[in-house]
Amino acid sequence: MTDTTTATPQDTHIDLTQQEREADLNIHELKRLVGLVEYDETKDPFPVTGWDAIVFVVGNATQAAQYYQNVWGMELVGYSGPENGNRDHKAFVLKSGSIRFVLKGAVSPDSPLIAHHAKHGDGVVDISLEVPDVDKCIAQAKAAGARVVQEPETVSDEHGSVRVGAIATYGETRHTLVQRTVDGQTYAGPYLPGYVAKVSTFVKRDGAPKRLFQALDHIVGNVELGKMDEWVSFYNRVMGFVNMAEFIGDDIATDYSALMSKVVANGNHRVKFPLNEPAIAKKKSQIDEYLEFYNGPGAQHLALATNDILRTVDELRKEGVEFLDTPDAYYDDPEMRERIGEVRVPIEELKARKILVDRDEDGYLLQIFTKPLGDRPTVFFEIIERHGSLGFGKGNFKALFESIEREQDKRGNL
Ligand SMILES: [Fe+2]
Repeated sequence: MTDTTTATPQDTHIDLTQQEREADLNIHELKRLVGLVEYDETKDPFPVTGWDAIVFVVGNATQAAQYYQNVWGMELVGYSGPENGNRDHKAFVLKSGSIRFVLKGAVSPDSPLIAHHAKHGDGVVDISLEVPDVDKCIAQAKAAGARVVQEPETVSDEHGSVRVGAIATYGETRHTLVQRTVDGQTYAGPYLPGYVAKVSTFVKRDGAPKRLFQALDHIVGNVELGKMDEWVSFYNRVMGFVNMAEFIGDDIATDYSALMSKVVANGNHRVKFPLNEPAIAKKKSQIDEYLEFYNGPGAQHLALATNDILRTVDELRKEGVEFLDTPDAYYDDPEMRERIGEVRVPIEELKARKILVDRDEDGYLLQIFTKPLGDRPTVFFEIIERHGSLGFGKGNFKALFESIEREQDKRGNL
């Protein structure tokens, strides 16, 4: 089991993870930020506590680690590389709130990361999840027919032990399952055995916020035409994930491109995976463009949760981050204004920043999408601020698509 701290007496069914506790987050905040719900873990065949780390393979981890500190306000906390015995690659561990990113770049010319990077470019190689019992999860995965890529094993160093195993998911992406408490002892190192604590000399600009995002809300996977239902079923069958309300068919279509999307989530909803597949349309869809340039299925976007999207977007723009554009017509449309109703700031504030709004029966959300983060038109980030809505911005998909298509067209890929 992970930590057993509870925030308030009425919230006794949800425990904070170690990462959330270290980030000074509380249950109330997490319910609003990422839509955390209570559930009974004892009946779950594959209990998942939450995200453990998002592992990226990049072309230059040394420089990417600086980018994520300088631009995205993340904090460097750990490292593995030739200086501490890892001659294959360098890996930098960065945190923001309860999110942990691990950036890996090849050092040795023989590193297997080189072939991965040549094939896919910068991208997510591992969506690592924290689980209370790795052996239980791997046994369930095997029984349900999943491909186990790492049998459960205990790895240790002077900070203690963790137990890890891994299963394959779409494309060349994997889910490493990390059990951080072994024989009653919780691992105390900066990340995993083999990593050392590392800080940097980076100093934030005067007045910069403590952090630009607090938690990870969801990660979208792009899979091939006709494969979405297979992967939804994989998450249902293998990992006991539940289907969320937002199931979308052909209604996400513009004149040119279309996609299908369904969403699965773990029991407590910390981990949410929308899964997209391209749909037949007149021109190449954004999912097709991704599949072509990533060279197969993979993680398309990571949604970073914030409690102040206006400030986060302002800070990111100052650092040069480029967001997808939204035409003024989106904000001036009376039908849209009617649907959205009152939100916490005047619509003009959102219009000035090109932030999108969506509302459903539970509340609303504010969201904005970056342009692709790397050279290939593949992985990007979403910034999301939830106010009750547990959706993913379905009402904005058309506006978002049209914006993506304008960018696709500029790249000659529409
Ligand atoms: Fe999203």
